[in-house]
Amino acid sequence: VPDNRVKLIEVGPRDGLQNEKKTIPLQTKIELIERLAKTGVSTVEAGSFVSPKWVPQMANSSDILEHILQQKIQTPGPVSYSFLAPNTKGLENAAAILKQNQGTFTTQLEPPTGVELTPKPSIEVAVFAAATESFSQKNLNCDIQTSLERFKAVIQDAKGLGLRVRAYISVVLGCPFEGFNVEPHKVAEIAADLLESGADEISLGDTTGMGTAPRTSMLLKSLASAGIRTEDIAMHFHDTYGQALVNTAVSLEHGVRTFDSSVGGLGGCPYSPGATGNVATENMIYFMETLGMDTGVDLDAMADIGAWITGELGRANDSTVGKAVLGA
Ligand code: HMG
Ligand code: MG
Repeated sequence: VPDNRVKLIEVGPRDGLQNEKKTIPLQTKIELIERLAKTGVSTVEAGSFVSPKWVPQMANSSDILEHILQQKIQTPGPVSYSFLAPNTKGLENAAAILKQNQGTFTTQLEPPTGVELTPKPSIEVAVFAAATESFSQKNLNCDIQTSLERFKAVIQDAKGLGLRVRAYISVVLGCPFEGFNVEPHKVAEIAADLLESGADEISLGDTTGMGTAPRTSMLLKSLASAGIRTEDIAMHFHDTYGQALVNTAVSLEHGVRTFDSSVGGLGGCPYSPGATGNVATENMIYFMETLGMDTGVDLDAMADIGAWITGELGRANDSTVGKAVLGA
């Protein structure tokens, strides 16, 4: 893989939509996922097998997974679709659908053969830990240690099914309850535990957008000295304070090549009051291109999707680049 290659994980359909109050029609979500999958992104985070009582907007994630497996979405290359699973119950719900649709997707055990005209989708799951006890209680209803034990079981079961697993750690650069009081060595410890349990990738979430360039650098140095490889790290920036691209630049300097972003800058976290959306994918593509990095993603198509979906939601388009590209 050339060093200027950057992998973008599109989290709009999950992180972007989970906080919307008004129920978004299934058809709109499916159209969003299909359009995103055609832009060249390698992964689309498509839903969440969590409690519908807490996150009602993700309640139809089963229908979305079924759609992905049963309809052959034409994509320029292989696309992986990711679903959050906080516990074995969530994983079992996803696994039941996978079992009913054997042979329609690829896994780590059955990778793509490379000869299909329409590549089969690959499915992965994501668990989500937190760097502070108070955020863990709010988001997961348990302490960090308990969450790590639960995730170990989820990861083992997912691996048994051949699924790739990513593991989020939230509030790594600031917490809505504990402020800047987040210890980089604690983040490193949690990351090491999740990797040890079998996670393929750690996504470091700046949930509140409180991250700054020096703090991002400090965190990544801390992870490196704990022996965590940059290949195993993705960065997940929210743009609440407008620092996401600066922090992205710092992460690139530290060797990170995988980044989460959300079309139109959609998003927010139900457990992080005031947090705005993820860094906009359009801004990310433009920024990477100006640095000579290659995302493989079609900026014009992404800008069109951002304008369309924010219109559907009755929201302002939060992507400055998206608006500029469209002359809007
Ligand atoms: P729990 O321990 O069972 O406790 O679940 P609970 O009281 O929260 O459970 C409530 C109900 O949900 C119970 O049903 C459970 O059975 C049911 P009831 O008995 O009331 O009828 N339940 C489930 N239903 C469907 N699927 C499941 C499931 N699990 C329990 N998987 C748990 C604790 C954390 C699982 C639950 O509270 C939950 O699902 N919460 C939602 C968490 C969430 O989705 N947070 C947002 C995503 S994380 C995020 O956005 C951060 C990220 O973007 C990175 C960043 O920016 O930081 C990833
Ligand atoms: Mg997030």
